[in-house]
Amino acid sequence: MKPTIVTMQGDGIGKTVLPEAVKVLEAAGFEADYVHADIGWKFWKKQGNPLPQKTIDLLTEHKIGLFGAITSKPKDKALEELDPSLKGKGFVYFSPIVGLRQHFDLDICIRPCKSFKGNPLNFIRRDASDGFEEPLVNAVIFRQNTEGLYSGVEWTNPPKEVRDAFNLHPKMKKFKDVPGKDLAISSRIMSREACHRIIRAAYEYADKFGFTNLTVCEKPNVLRETSGLMMEEAKKISKDFPNIDLWETNIDAQMMWLTKNPEDYGVIVSENMFGDIVSDGFAGLIGGLGFACSANIGKEVAIFEPTHGSAPKYETLNPSIVNPIAMIMSACMMLDHLNETEKAKNIRNAIAKVVEEGKVRTYDMMKLRGSQKVFEQGACTTQEMTNEIIKYVKR
Ligand code: NAI
Ligand code: MG
Repeated sequence: MKPTIVTMQGDGIGKTVLPEAVKVLEAAGFEADYVHADIGWKFWKKQGNPLPQKTIDLLTEHKIGLFGAITSKPKDKALEELDPSLKGKGFVYFSPIVGLRQHFDLDICIRPCKSFKGNPLNFIRRDASDGFEEPLVNAVIFRQNTEGLYSGVEWTNPPKEVRDAFNLHPKMKKFKDVPGKDLAISSRIMSREACHRIIRAAYEYADKFGFTNLTVCEKPNVLRETSGLMMEEAKKISKDFPNIDLWETNIDAQMMWLTKNPEDYGVIVSENMFGDIVSDGFAGLIGGLGFACSANIGKEVAIFEPTHGSAPKYETLNPSIVNPIAMIMSACMMLDHLNETEKAKNIRNAIAKVVEEGKVRTYDMMKLRGSQKVFEQGACTTQEMTNEIIKYVKR
């Protein structure tokens, strides 16, 4: 049966790159129906809701979403831009992509960071004989997307009941006399089920794509309870995957090893905040925002999106200068999810050829400042990059 893909372009360059990804999917012979869904700043301004119910209904029905990017602005700025007829009616802005992750409990976030040979943005380091070496990175970060330090359970001036409860812990002694208004608490909450799901998903992915190691990147020597729970689940599940080595790293040491030996790591699993940090770190090694793709996967619904935002300053440039590769790679993750792995591989191989040939490059790949001038300096347009990729996609 042909799947129906809910396309949510959103704002800014989300509107530019999403249609490019659809062109590549079609070129690879992926058969699907596409249904457009509204999301983003425009709908906040006009309707007081950046995530219309219709969009939620479409995703509930069709289960698969392809998302561009949205613009988010601080609370007061959001209120200022709200349609005058809606002002003072209690509308509060919230990020619709965060809203989607919460609504559909998209607890598994996957962020692959693989360097393409010949990408001028690849990380290089000095070797032992004063030359340079370019380690090829192929790490896939599994970030727990709904719990942990980003659960949002925090207080400044915590209510008495909370404070009393905290005071049951012997380590609260040193905060006993701090006045409430001078005390802020954030909590790192993790459930066994969520740890189990992220670890199992990571092992299954490692197994499916032939990775030989899985690293739990946490801080169990300090965060004994929460990181400890994650490790406990990892050790249990590892017994089902005897051919995949289980490694443990601390998040701080992992960031040091990022430049020392990033090529050694395969699948990495972390809690929400640590996963945020470690995935941005690895993305920097393989070309940054123009190359960083991601998937948000729940029990029912899955949404695929580039890591980058709406880059509003490039929204109106015509032709567009931005790199569509992160969005196209996110579409490849959707293909993997739908078990169309051969088509995904075909597209990734095409991207690899274009990058290695180096004849067609977007401005970021040439380390230029973004403006219309980049075309005179030899950069290609967004559409030219897509067309070059399509040239190598095999039907
Ligand atoms: P951003 O990712 O939109 O852009 C930062 C810079 O990265 C751009 O100015 C550009 O130089 C570069 N860049 C981004 N995507 C690129 C691409 N495809 N090709 C080449 N260069 C690219 O982040 P920023 O400027 O912090 O935020 C802009 C807006 O996007 C904000 O309103 C923010 O809230 C929102 N945002 C949305 C996200 C989402 O939709 N998931 C994620 C991050 C930010
Ligand atoms: Mg981030």
